[in-house]
Amino acid sequence: MPNASDPMQTLTVTLGPRSYPIHIGGGLLSNETLWAAARERPLRLITDAHVAAHYLQPVATALQLPNTSIRILPPGEPTKSLANVEAIMDWLLETRLPRDGWLVALGGGVIGDLVGFCASIYQRGVDFVQVPTTLLAQVDSSVGGKTGVNHARGKNMIGAFHQPRLVLADTDTLKTLPRRELLAGIAEVIKYGMLGDAAFLDWIEQHLDGLLELRDADIAYAVRRSCEMKADIVARDERESSVRALLNLGHTFAHAIETYTGYTQWLHGEAVGTGLCMAADLSARLGWIGRDEADRCIALVGRSGLPTRPPQGMTGDDFGRLMALDKKVASGQLRLVLMRAVGDAVLTADFDPDALRQTLAAFTTAAD
Ligand SMILES: NC(=O)c1ccc[n+]([C@@H]2O[C@H](COP(=O)([O-])OP(=O)(O)OC[C@H]3O[C@@H](n4cnc5c(N)ncnc54)[C@H](O)[C@@H]3O)[C@@H](O)[C@H]2O)c1
Repeated sequence: MPNASDPMQTLTVTLGPRSYPIHIGGGLLSNETLWAAARERPLRLITDAHVAAHYLQPVATALQLPNTSIRILPPGEPTKSLANVEAIMDWLLETRLPRDGWLVALGGGVIGDLVGFCASIYQRGVDFVQVPTTLLAQVDSSVGGKTGVNHARGKNMIGAFHQPRLVLADTDTLKTLPRRELLAGIAEVIKYGMLGDAAFLDWIEQHLDGLLELRDADIAYAVRRSCEMKADIVARDERESSVRALLNLGHTFAHAIETYTGYTQWLHGEAVGTGLCMAADLSARLGWIGRDEADRCIALVGRSGLPTRPPQGMTGDDFGRLMALDKKVASGQLRLVLMRAVGDAVLTADFDPDALRQTLAAFTTAAD
């Protein structure tokens, strides 16, 4: 059971018959009560080798899983592949998982996205449980039902919306997370404050040291508040036809950086950190937020240890070319998520292109 100093919190993603709980707290992996519904089902668990080394044993024990029901994949983004989807389909069919069986995704966003996608297509869809073990997965990818794999022609190009039955975010697992991966998750936490909750942004500023030191109460609150915001947005717009796009604050700049660097040098969250700085700068140039407010957001990203500028050598032209490929381009017009006030984001094509050029120049020329 979770101990008293780190009580479990439960939120609900409200989606009618597809509603599900998110449990957040310490000691959840081995909490047999939380696993009760899953234990009534035939189960298959998929994880990666890093996560398995730390957390497979408590989960397998709580679920009474035999080794034949467990699959351990190599860690890393290349695991999110169609080849692995096919291998998992073979395994599920060979081991005869029935339609009322559940999949369990134990790991970061890579495992969550891959397993969720497998669950969406196996026998036209089975249920699955997200057990996110990175900060990014706990505050973002495990909630909301976006699943998928990469294709040689693009990241996340093959996928489906498929909501989990249950999310178990055990914050104790973050203690073994490599530092860079922790910071990548912090970028997404800062994003929530900037896009929708100025008071949360204040809180992050005040508790950043606690977050970086993984103080239980601070981490639990940051995960809870981020999940609350994501759950609320997903409940209002499950398939990203409106407000869900706001979750992409900073992401158009970030995707350009990730494409420029070939998805190998920068972690997604690191690129988001810089993207948040660029979105804040542009919002200030448009006069929507004060310069002091933009500087405050940039300073927070910097204090976290995240990069605040794009990679050396990346030019404004590189950004222009790569941002034109963004999924949010509609009828040939670039749309960006910007801040019309701190804690109040908007998706818009209605911005002065000169201001964008100035932001790109300010963030690239000096870095050359
Ligand atoms: N579905 C969505 O809505 C959504 C949202 C954001 C990102 N994503 C996807 O998420 C993926 C990135 O997820 P990620 O950042 O969690 O990366 P990841 O799953 O690759 O995990 C990062 C690394 O940390 C290791 N790891 C995981 N948990 C650990 C732990 N507790 N202790 C020690 N090591 C641990 C992993 O083995 C891996 O090496 C990307 O593919 C991205 O496209 C999806």
